[in-house]
Parts: sequence; C-alpha cells; structure tokens
Amino acid sequence: MRIFLIGFMGSGKTHWGRIWAQQYGMEFFDLDEMIEQQEQKTVDAIFEQEGEDHFRKTESALLRTLFKKDHCIIAGGGGTPCFHNNMQWMNSNGTTIYLQATPEQLVERIEKEKDKRPLLKKLNQADLLSFIDDKLTEREPFYNSSQIIIPVDKLNTESLEKILNS
Ligand code: S3P
Repeated sequence: MRIFLIGFMGSGKTHWGRIWAQQYGMEFFDLDEMIEQQEQKTVDAIFEQEGEDHFRKTESALLRTLFKKDHCIIAGGGGTPCFHNNMQWMNSNGTTIYLQATPEQLVERIEKEKDKRPLLKKLNQADLLSFIDDKLTEREPFYNSSQIIIPVDKLNTESLEKILNS
C-alpha cells in the first residue's frame, strides 16, 4: 500500500499524513522535506536561487524514487500533481487521495504561515483569496483525477480507515 496525499497548500497533507502514518504503523514521507534534505536548502531558498523549474525537476525525480517504498503515506507539495506527468505516475503507483478544500478554507489555514511559501509570500491579505481561487481552478483538473476525493472538513483520525474500506 502506497498512499499519495494530494491537495492545495494548507489542505492538511502533511498534518494528516503524519497522524495516519503513525496510527497505522506506516512510513511517512513529505516530498518538500525530501527536497530540502537533498538540496540542503529550504523550499523558499530553492525557488529563489535555482528557480521553480529546478524545483519541479527535483520534485519529480524524488517522487519517482518512492516506488521502492511500500506501506507508506506520501504528502506531495501543492504543485506536485501538476508537473511532469506526476499525477499520472502517482495514480499508476499507488492510491491518490485529494484533500479538497474551498478557497475560503485555504485562506484561513494559510494566512499565518504564508511566508514559508514562495508562491504566496509576496501577496497581501487582499490578493491572497483571488490568487488561491485562480490557482485552484487551474489545478483542479489534476487534483480531481485522484482516485479518492474527500472534503477537508470530513477528515479525522479514523478517516483513512473509512476511506480505504469504502
Ligand atoms: C507549492 C506547494 C508547497 C511547496 C512549494 C510549491 C505549490 O508545498 O511544494 O512551495 O506549488 O503549491 P505544500 O503544499 O506542502 O505547502
């Protein structure tokens, strides 16, 4: 079993991934953390110094190393499904679960920690909602091709078991 958590920044991929992995004795991988470890830089510094293309190539290459891992949960980044055929690869190599949130829910969750996120840090409060709205519309075709879609307000510690048994 290899589970990929899909969703926009702030949808709770890392949060729920860690909790569920611990609960079910699975290994947990956070793709952003793997990139930071390999590059020895924060995601923000990679975007700034090497550019987004380099980040996306690294992200895609590291994602594909995970086919060697089993019984694990993987939290991708918000953009992971949208580049280099990653969504197709994840659908062929595991179970994809989209943690679906509305732009309003996302703004509320992201506001306090937007400085860590290169795509958001330059936006003021007023622009944040419309940016998320547009970006989500652009990304939804990828996110919606997940095998399982679950609204974030339905998530809890038992969700994974219910999701997988349904
Ligand atoms: C990104 C989301 C981030 C990180 C990078 C780009 C995106 O991951 O990969 O800042 O394009 O949506 P999180 O979704 O874990 O914040």
